[in-house]
Amino acid sequence: MAYSCSVVQDDARGGLAKVVLAKGDGSESRVEIYLFGATVTSWISSGVERLFVSDKAVWNGEKAIRGGIPLVFPQFGQPDTTLAQHGFARTSLWDWSCSCGESESGKVVFTLKDSAVTQRVWPHAFQLLYTVELTPASLRCQLLVRNPEGSAGSFPCQALLHTYVRLPHEITDLKVLGFQGHRYVDKMTAGEVHEETREIVTIDCETDRIYLSSSSVEIPDLTLLSKGAPFMTVAKKAFMEDVQPLAADVVFWNAWVDKSASLPDLGEGAYKSYVCVEPGVVSDRVEVPSGAALTLETTLTVLS
Ligand code: BG6
Repeated sequence: MAYSCSVVQDDARGGLAKVVLAKGDGSESRVEIYLFGATVTSWISSGVERLFVSDKAVWNGEKAIRGGIPLVFPQFGQPDTTLAQHGFARTSLWDWSCSCGESESGKVVFTLKDSAVTQRVWPHAFQLLYTVELTPASLRCQLLVRNPEGSAGSFPCQALLHTYVRLPHEITDLKVLGFQGHRYVDKMTAGEVHEETREIVTIDCETDRIYLSSSSVEIPDLTLLSKGAPFMTVAKKAFMEDVQPLAADVVFWNAWVDKSASLPDLGEGAYKSYVCVEPGVVSDRVEVPSGAALTLETTLTVLS
């Protein structure tokens, strides 16, 4: 069965345009991506929704969409207070093109480059190329950050795929394998650095951590389990060819009771239904030289 893509105006969501990439009629395998932020907001695999989007998400084309996979660039958090939290990629309008057909997978490509608007807040030339690829069991998202040949010089940046995974059961039923032995920055305790000692990581309070990779010690693919059954793997990679070795960090976030209630576009109780597992290059700002490109990629694969 072939893949196809189309663009649809979503009247129920502020009239925002979204690209729908589907295999056949899409009931078994489909992904939806809004041009606003190139935000993936739905991924159906084997007929089941795999991503979380908040019921209270705001669809006004200004506020970042709460859920799915917002793209964080050029900064993570707000180290530069003159720039928006998590940067402007998630609130920019992207261009798109489709490359699907009679193949094993369907692909949509989104692009964003610097404009007078981005130059005002971040004075660098850049090109972003974001590829979303669907197969029956997986979703691959690849962000390429290019500093164009002949630009004024290198730029420093961070990038992250802010993935909200929908949980099959509740957050207290979640177990994550793969973090053991890796260091993490605990944003809940003003950035203290610890080593993860647990083989099985669970969540029972507000959690906001950056698990750190380095080119010599890389976090492996992660396995997510719910009620003891593995339901998804999260693979990731980061590289910058011919410039420097890189490896993807993983931000691990759940707002838990109070923060969930305090975020108007998340809301009371929403924390039970999601976990954010966010591959990124965030522990340091990486310098991308003129003519070079940073690649960040994640592949989510369903196991049940
Ligand atoms: C995570 C951060 O990536 O994003 C958290 O580690 C932050 O600190 C969360 O609260 C949500 O950020 P935002 O800007 O989408 O509310």
